[in-house]
Amino acid sequence: MSTLEKAIETLSTRGFLNMEIPKGINLIEEINKLRKEKNAIILAHYYQTGDIQDIADFLGDSLQLAREAEKTNADMIVFCGVHFMAETAKILNPTKKVVLPDTLAGCSLADSCSGEGLREMKKKHPKAIVVSYINCDSTVKAESDIIVTSSNAEHIINSLPLDQEIIFAPDRNLGRYINQVTGRNMILWDGACIVHEAFSLERIAQQMLNNPKAKLIAHPEAQKPVLQVAHYIGSTANLLNYVANDDCQEFIVATEEGILHEMHKRAPHKKLIPALTQDERCNCSECHFMKLNTLEKLYLCMKYELPEILLDEDIRLKALRPITKMLELSKTIK
Ligand code: 13P
Ligand code: SF4
Repeated sequence: MSTLEKAIETLSTRGFLNMEIPKGINLIEEINKLRKEKNAIILAHYYQTGDIQDIADFLGDSLQLAREAEKTNADMIVFCGVHFMAETAKILNPTKKVVLPDTLAGCSLADSCSGEGLREMKKKHPKAIVVSYINCDSTVKAESDIIVTSSNAEHIINSLPLDQEIIFAPDRNLGRYINQVTGRNMILWDGACIVHEAFSLERIAQQMLNNPKAKLIAHPEAQKPVLQVAHYIGSTANLLNYVANDDCQEFIVATEEGILHEMHKRAPHKKLIPALTQDERCNCSECHFMKLNTLEKLYLCMKYELPEILLDEDIRLKALRPITKMLELSKTIK
């Protein structure tokens, strides 16, 4: 990478390049032009802001986005999500240029685990295989035997022999939930998502009392007490399907708030209530990592084709194996 490119990456990461955007520019028209000119595909997660979700070529959960990244013929994958998701796209489709509007779009869960730390844990349990949640970086994936997402974790764990010892990394909440529904006793890495751990059982219980017809739906990254009272637990894609197809007209939604944008579209007449978090002064049910991507940064990242995701080929190949295994084992999952 040239010095100029490095400087642009650093600046764009901090949002300074916004100053370069000419006044009065129509960002959506410009993004559309760049998308065509550069044969780019914009992939976005349900936790992105509504304007980014609306401009995306494909909107999905982690599993759907990985599949889309693998099969695309576009020359450039513009990943509107967090860093581990863009990395997964690069691992699966290395000949494509993968860019992420803001390289600081990380993940507290992914940050809780390193490849080195996981290697140490494996030494203590030499017979165990490692199943890792996709919310982890490429070094953790490289140390794993199988990757899972919240859409396919239960299915994949159920496909493994009952007597197989398993280390599950990095999400203790998803791991505990999968242990409960599959009857396993997986050894859990002690990581968590700051957004899903912020929900308050006490305040949600009050919301349930105030809205007696509402069903509580939750992402499995939420803590056990919230999951215990939930009427339905599922990945972002499954929560969306549940709200659209269930007869109930009111839902308290315990996951990142960005999902409400697509939920309102799929179920326009239903009442959707964001679940409350412990600190009433903070917007804790918003993932600030996801929200680092903005339309301005998306435009700049497409224009300059930066910041780009680049991976060490050895790590990429090691990380590819458990992701390929996941895709094979979850062919029947939508
Ligand atoms: P999904 O796999 O349900 O899309 O979840 C991704 C995520 O980051 C949840 O916090
Ligand atoms: Fe990571 Fe949580 Fe944000 Fe998902 S919502 S990207 S798990 S910090």
